Order: sequence, then C-alpha cells, then structure tokens
Amino acid sequence: MSSDTAMPLDEFIKQLESLAAEAEQTFQDAVDAEKLETARVEFLGARQGRLKSVQKSLGRIDKSDKPAAGKKLNEVKNRIQSSFEASQANLSCGQAERIRDLQVDPSLPGQRPRIGRLHPITQTIEELKDIMGRLGFTPAEGPEVEDPWHNFEALNIPEIHPARDPLDNFYLSLASKQAGLDSQLLLRSQTSTVQIRVMENTPPPVRIISLGRVYRPDTADATHYPMFHQMEGLLIDTEVSLADLKTVLHLFATNYLGEDVPVRIRPSFFPFTEPSVEADYYWNGKWVEFGGAGIVDPNVLKSVGYDPDAVSGFAFGLGVERLCMVRHKITDIRDLFTNEVRFLRQF
Ligand code: PHE
Repeated sequence: MSSDTAMPLDEFIKQLESLAAEAEQTFQDAVDAEKLETARVEFLGARQGRLKSVQKSLGRIDKSDKPAAGKKLNEVKNRIQSSFEASQANLSCGQAERIRDLQVDPSLPGQRPRIGRLHPITQTIEELKDIMGRLGFTPAEGPEVEDPWHNFEALNIPEIHPARDPLDNFYLSLASKQAGLDSQLLLRSQTSTVQIRVMENTPPPVRIISLGRVYRPDTADATHYPMFHQMEGLLIDTEVSLADLKTVLHLFATNYLGEDVPVRIRPSFFPFTEPSVEADYYWNGKWVEFGGAGIVDPNVLKSVGYDPDAVSGFAFGLGVERLCMVRHKITDIRDLFTNEVRFLRQF
C-alpha cells in the first residue's frame, strides 16, 4: 500500500483499537522489567514503535476526517502509555511483596563496612619515624629474642650486674637449652641492643633510631606493662656533646607536641652512657619524663670495635607508650593492650 492511497477513518480506528488491545495484553503479560521494556520499545518506541507506524497512516486519511482521527490517535496513545505505567507499577509493587515475603525490612539502615585503622601505638611510631627522619635519623631493627652479649655485655653490663637478675628479665631457659646454647637467650629488655647490632655492622658515622617492643616482668598497672615500646636513638660522629643530645631532644619534643617545649636533663646512671641523664620536657604545667640518655660509654665503643679516641656519640631511649598517652590523654597503659575496639577506634 503506498502512502498516497487513501485510508478510511474507520479502518484507521480499527487498527488503533487492535494495537491498543495487543499492547495492553503484552504489558500485562510481561513478567519482569526486562520483558516490559522490550514491550515498551515494540509499541511505544519513538522511531520503530508500532504506534508510530500506525500514526504514519494519518497522512492518508481524508482531510475532513483528520481531526477525528487525530483525536482518536491521542486517546489510544494515552491508553497504551497508561497501560505501560500500570504494568510498571505493578512489577515494582510485586517486588516489594517479594521482599516482604523474605522478611527483610528494607527500611533498616544498611550494614556499614567496618573501616580499619592503625593502633595508636603504631600511629605514634609512624609519627616518631617521620620526625626523626627529618632530623636525619634512619630506622634500624633488631630481634626481640636476644643473646646476653647484645642485651648486656656489649652494653657494659657485666655478669654480676643486678640488671641481669632473672627477676628483672624474661629468660628463655628451655629454648636456649634446646638450641644447645651455653648462654641464656632472653626477650630484650631495652632497644639499646640495636645500638650494638648497628655499630657492629656499620662504620661511623651512625645516625639511627630503633623502634620496637621490649619486655620486663613488671606487674601491670596504670603505668606499667610487661611489654612496651621504646624509641632508641644513636648518633656517632666526632666531638659529639651533651649539647647536641639536648638539641635533638628539644627539636624532637617540639615537633611531636607541636609547640616549643622546654627540655631539661638531670644526672642519672646507665652502664652504657657516661655521663648519663634523664630527660624531661615541660608540658601542661609540669615536667614530664621522656626517657634516659647520655654520651655513649667508651667501653661500648670498644666492644663494637670503634676507637673511643676518634669518635664519640650520644644515645637515648624513650618510652613510646608514654608519648602516645600524653598526646591522647590516655591515663591507663593497659587500655592500649586489651584489644577493646570501642576504645581503640577513638584514635
Ligand atoms: N636503655 C635505657 C632504658 O631502657 C634507656 C637509655 C637508652 C639510656 C640509651 C641511655 C641511653 O631505660
């Protein structure tokens, strides 16, 4: 049939009616959104849709019948459109019923993925590495199970020294025997062991920090725990003085606390430094102790094969927990190690 062949009005209406009936049926029969969409394209598609092709016959209607034909076309278009919308609503309403049958309450809040975070001690360690890195100190590591040479002997702590008492150390008697060792291995009681390990393997100058766990058989209370972390610092060069040590500690404390805090040193004693000091910083109206330090004892330099007449250095050992607790106003060290997530996720 060519487009200029005339079409009678009632023929046009008949075509529209049957198209509408067929569309309504197809929409009703669509069992899912995909089928419904295919049906929509078939009947209502803007370019190839079947309604569109019937609409094209409008040009062949007698001029006097055109208004009536146009009116009918609009009616049917609306009818097919609303039939489609009804089926669509029906489908999504069916979905709601299915969800209800599953006894799921879609109005409940979703399950949020739990986002992990670093432990406050790990965060502190990262920050200390960052600050000390900017002062030129490179991180070094050593084992947590140590031999007496690195934990004591090389640090100028002889066999008879009370610091070697079994009551003050975790000796690994059985493991040492099984390994066939004469000397008793132990869990390191200080990170000063890493000073020795680094100097044994590196010629001077040295500028390192070592951050890690140390162990002492202390009874746990608000300020003690049998395991804690230290930051050891060691600088070996020529003509190193206590003034250099104090400057580094001052720069460190000022960077860590974010304001210019005064630092003081008090006389103390450690077998591996001479002179030895305790260092404090002034924070929130009081002096807070941050650790022991001093000028490396010539005996220590000798034990690692350095020449005490040619080089000198300073060392310090700071408590990481103490720094972390001051920063976050934590009052009980045990809170850091009970794995209480509600506590830890505050930091
Ligand atoms: N190792 C000492 C301690 O655990 C701290 C320290 C390190 C002191 C280095 C002096 C020099 O208490």
